[in-house]
Formats: sequence, structure tokens, C-alpha cells
Amino acid sequence: MWRMMKRTPVDQLNATDARAEHGRLAEEISAHDRRYYQDDAPTVSDAEYDALRRRYGELEQAFPELRTDESLTRKVGAAPSAKFAKVRHAVPMLSLGNVFDDGEVHEFVERVKRFLGLKENAPLDFTSEPKIDGLSCTLRYEKGEIVQAATRGDGFEGEDVTANVRTIAEIPHRLKGRHVPEVFEARGEVYMNRADFSALNERQAAAGRMVYANPRNSAAGSLRQIDAAATAQRPLRFFAYAWGELSEQPASTQSGMIDFLHRAGFQTNRLTRVCHSADEMIAHYREIEAKRASLGYDIDGVVYKVDDLALQARLGFVSRAPRWAVAHKFPAERATTVLRAIDIQVGRTGALTPVARLDPVTVGGVVVQNATLHNEDEIARKDIRVGDTVVIQRAGDVIPQVVEVAFDKRPFDARPYQFPHVCPACGSAAVRETDEKGGVEVVRRCTGGLICPAQAVERLKHFCSRLAMDIEGLGDRQIELFYEKGLIRQPADIFTLQARDAAGEFNLREWEGFGETSVRNLFASIDQRRRIAVNRFIYALGIRRIGETNARRLARHFGTFEALRSCARKAVEGSDERAEINDIDGVGDVVAEAVADFFVEDHNEKALDDLLREVQPAPMEDIASDSPVAGKTVVFTGSLERLTRDEAKAQADRFGAKVSGSVSKKTDLVVAGPGAGSKLTKAHELGIEVISEDEWFKRTRQE
Ligand code: IVH
Repeated sequence: MWRMMKRTPVDQLNATDARAEHGRLAEEISAHDRRYYQDDAPTVSDAEYDALRRRYGELEQAFPELRTDESLTRKVGAAPSAKFAKVRHAVPMLSLGNVFDDGEVHEFVERVKRFLGLKENAPLDFTSEPKIDGLSCTLRYEKGEIVQAATRGDGFEGEDVTANVRTIAEIPHRLKGRHVPEVFEARGEVYMNRADFSALNERQAAAGRMVYANPRNSAAGSLRQIDAAATAQRPLRFFAYAWGELSEQPASTQSGMIDFLHRAGFQTNRLTRVCHSADEMIAHYREIEAKRASLGYDIDGVVYKVDDLALQARLGFVSRAPRWAVAHKFPAERATTVLRAIDIQVGRTGALTPVARLDPVTVGGVVVQNATLHNEDEIARKDIRVGDTVVIQRAGDVIPQVVEVAFDKRPFDARPYQFPHVCPACGSAAVRETDEKGGVEVVRRCTGGLICPAQAVERLKHFCSRLAMDIEGLGDRQIELFYEKGLIRQPADIFTLQARDAAGEFNLREWEGFGETSVRNLFASIDQRRRIAVNRFIYALGIRRIGETNARRLARHFGTFEALRSCARKAVEGSDERAEINDIDGVGDVVAEAVADFFVEDHNEKALDDLLREVQPAPMEDIASDSPVAGKTVVFTGSLERLTRDEAKAQADRFGAKVSGSVSKKTDLVVAGPGAGSKLTKAHELGIEVISEDEWFKRTRQE
């Protein structure tokens, strides 16, 4: 063990020895972290642990190249999530869409107006406020008292950090004012001032403890301390800017709600304004941008939100982001460094992605040593070569990118980069497919399907992920481990794990980091998923171009997995089966081809047979499935008074109906407003039910 070895003073080490020792220490410290945080069974004293950490920090100070993205001194949060109880959010915590320039701000405003059926020049107010670079938190108050605080997590489920949050002075334990709602969830950003961050890092460094890369990581790490007393020592702050569950709504506008939050005792951002046009929003963005450096805390853009809450409700959400808000991000920060190598990564769908390995460089407070090169054509277009000095940029949480080459610094012997034509993971041919318009796809893909180890691991991770099979306890790390050890090679293996374990094949309980309880829980959560909604099951298969929405469309159309499978198996080009898939509303050629490709592939068939012996896809889970219009084909015609066309379409989709533009035998329902013409006539001719817009609201149980 390392601590038994004699330690050479750091200044007498050469770079090779320092790197080796740094690597050994990282492993040892990580093992102690696991034993401490996950197993509750530390094997060294705090002092010994601190000595290891200190030595590790000293090595990095003497040899700065050791401080990479992977360094333990860069890791966010001391504690793996195992320590915090999970909290399911009553109202999901969403993310925001981004815009990057003035034109996109105008487009956002236009899009909102179009959705609401407003004229381009109609008045519409937006709030505009800084986007704080911290971590979002939800704080639940009941009868005015704080009862729970949770991090955002994946938006649906976060971690219970109540005890830690109680130590933050800026967060009231009791809401001020006499008329506070019975249930009130305040949401906002936990962050750290820059000055407080620097002072904290100095204290940390002096104690040989972890130094943080930036105030945001520092805020995250500080909030997630195991011991709330440790959080109390950290200078955390909080801005409130949103809310979750409310038993009553104290105001009818975003700005009114911010005032309410302020009166209730929260800090709200003083730079929040109500703007009356895109131009005013942009002017406010410029004003905030100009103040950015002097604010004292990090912000990474400006957030615009529709002020009227009734309109926010009408606008609703697209996937995880509200239609009524957007983040206008500040331009990316840039730096120059040397590109040492180009590695090829293989993704779940077999896409080969080139990654630049760089000399470590600090960009916007974070050390970067990898950047994406996007694809083969980008490398050729920018003529990027190994050995080049390159400009890289990083914006917020986006992966750093290589922007351009400094050609004047190019080494004389640098050769144009040859993109590989075989998959680096499995050796299968890597090809560029034909795209929708008959052109060539930019992405080169491995054709090795399920035999390619790179794809198999990624497919398994996708299979188990939250929106897919959602198997608790089978996260990315466990999947990697089980794959590597040969326990799980394809989805069906997950479900035979318990039986094989019982037969004595691998004795999971004996493995480091597992143990009796966690193994039992794992098997239980696997068993829970032997019946799973068919839309999730389809999504979980990781078929190209089948995201959540398309999976739902297929499930809705076919009803059962077997119906989909037997159709898709025969769906070769030109067949009726291909046409059937193609005709599903929102599907089309390219998706139909991807579905067919998946099901005609022999080794997928075998893997599916194995899987279906273990798992039973059940009827679709959806608010749509019990809606009276589910599965119906609806035509909206005439001028609708309460809904715009976009809104009507979004509602229909939400309630499981398909929208069609024309009336035919296949139409089930026509929603007609005043002035409906030929479509209405045709509906009458064909004997199709015609209802009013008001009736649509009743049918879909919206009133
Ligand atoms: S509003 C439903 N306002 O940005 C919309 N978010 O990219 C909820 N953030 O997860 C978000 N400052 O952590 C909003 N003034 C602000 C914000 C803000 C920072 C963060 C928040 C959110 C992320 C989305």
C-alpha cells in the first residue's frame, strides 16, 4: 500500500515518477472514498486520508500537467449520491432552450406569438433576468415552514439536501407575510460569490483539501457535503426565480411572483425587468453583459420568460423545456493550445466521433484537455492536423470545440488527418449512409451493430436509462463493470443475472462495492421491470431515430410490441408494411427505414427473442392512453377561437390523437370552427363526427 512506502520529497521527483505516484494515489484515494461514502467502512483515519490528499495536491502543484479534467481535485461534490435520499419532484424541474444571437431572440418572440395566435405587432411582455451559474434547488414550505429542500437531479428526481440548505443564511426557514400559501415550493439557484469562492479555495489549498475549478462546482460541492455542519462553513447564497407546487397562486404574472418571493423573504435578482419587445430584451441583455464582470457572481446569460402566467400555461412545454422561456447565452470563451492527438469514440448508434486531445489549457475557469471535432468533414474543412496549434472555445456546459487552426504555427511535418474507415472498437467497416435527400451523411458509422463492444455498452446504458427501462441500481458505472466482467452482454442478460448468480456463477455479494442489501435491491428493481410500458420498451431498444416521441407514436399505432415487430420485419422497401409505418403521423420515410433496418437485422432478432422471454411489454403508459380521443385521427378546420393551430396540434399529441390535414375515411373526428368549408362538407358526406372547439375541450377533459 502506498502509505507504507517512503515518500521522496516532491521537489526531488522527476515527471515520470510523479505521474506514476499521482496515478497510484488517485486509485487509493478513490478506494477510500468508496469505502467511506458507499460502504460506510473507512479503513484509514481522517489524518491518514488527509495526508494522501495533501500529497496528491502537492504533486499537482509541482507538476501542473497532472491536474487534468479527471483529477480528484476537480471532482464535483465530495459525496457520491448514495448518501442523500432521493426526492421525486411534485412538478418537474425543467431546463431551458438556448439562443445565441439577436436574430434568435426575435425568432423566439415571434414563435411565442405565433403559438398564441397573436399578431406580430401585438403587445406581449417578457421578464428578463440574469442566468445564474450555480445549481438549482427546490425548497418546499408547508404552512410557511421549510420542510424539504432538493437538488434538481435529472429534473424528475433530485437529492434531499434539507439539512444542508437549512444552513444557508439567505434561505428563510419561515416565509414572511401573513398570507402565504399552505404549500409553496420556491425554486432558484444556489451559488457562490467569486470573492467567497477564492477565499474558500485558499483555505482548502492550505489544508491540503480539494480546490474547486469554479464557483459553480464549489457551490455544488459545498451543498452536497455529507455533514451539514461542513456546508454551514461554506459561503452559499440563493436567488429565487421560479416555483414548483403551489396550493394557491399568489400572483398572475412572472414579475408579480418575483415580487411575492421577495416579500416572502428571498433574495431575488435586482436586474430583473419587464420588457415590452424583443428590442428591449436585447437592450437589457447588453446592459447585463456590460455589468457581467462587476456583478461579483458568475452568470452565463440572460433568461427571458413570458410574463403572463396564463399564457405560460397555454404555451406549455416541449420535451424538457418550456415554450415560454429561453436562455440568451453569452458568447463562448476561447483559448489557444496544441492538439496532440485525435481519438475516435464510438457512440451507442455506432457514430464515430473524433475527439481532440489537447495540452491542458484554462478556458473560462475550467481546465480543458479534450474537445470535440464534430466529424470527418469538419476536420477536413478546417484542415485540422495533429501537432497544430488550435483555438478552442467553451460555452457554459457545452462540450469544448476546436474553432480554428493557427496555420502560422503549423509544424512543417504535419500531415492531413486520415479519418479511419474501420471501427476502432470492433474492426467492422465504418460507412457513411445516404441521407433523406440522397446525399451522404456527415457521420461515419460502424456497421457492427450488436457485436460492437462500444455500441453494446452504450446500448445497455440507454436500455436501463430513466426514460427507457429505468432500472434503479443499474447505472452507467455498474453496466460498464458488468459488461467488462462478461456478466451482461445484451439486454436479456440483465434479467437472467439473478438466476445465474444463484447458480453460483459469480457471487455478486462478494464483490467490492456491492454487498447483501444492494444486490437484493438490484434484483428487485430488475424484477419490477419485467412488465414495462410498450412505448418505453420500444424506446429502450435504441433503434436509430426512435426517440421518446417516435416510440410513443409506434406504440400508439401498433398497440402491442408483437404487432409492431411482425409489421416491421416485413417492412422492406416498397412493401405495404413499410407504407404502413411510413404513414403514421409524424413518422415518415427516414424513420420507417430505420425501424425496418433494425427489425430485419438477424442478430437484433435473436437478441429480441432472448429479451422477450424475460420481459413483457404492457399497454402504453401515457396520459394519452385513457383519453377519449386516444388513437383517433382528428382534423381541425375553420377558424379556431381558443386555440392556434400549433396549440391544437400539441394538445392532440398530448392526448394521444393524430392530427391530419385532410378529411378521409380514416378521419375519426373533425373539430370545426366558424368558416369551415370543404373539409366540413366532406366530413358530413362521410358521416364523420363533427364537434365544436368547446366540445374538444370537454372531450379532452380540460374543462
Ligand atoms: S428558469 C422552467 N431562471 O438554468 C424554467 N433558470 O438551463 C426554469 N438558471 O436548471 C428555469 N438562472 O438551474 C431560470 N434566472 C433563471 C436562472 C435559471 C439560472 C438555471 C437553472 C436551470 C437552468 C436551465
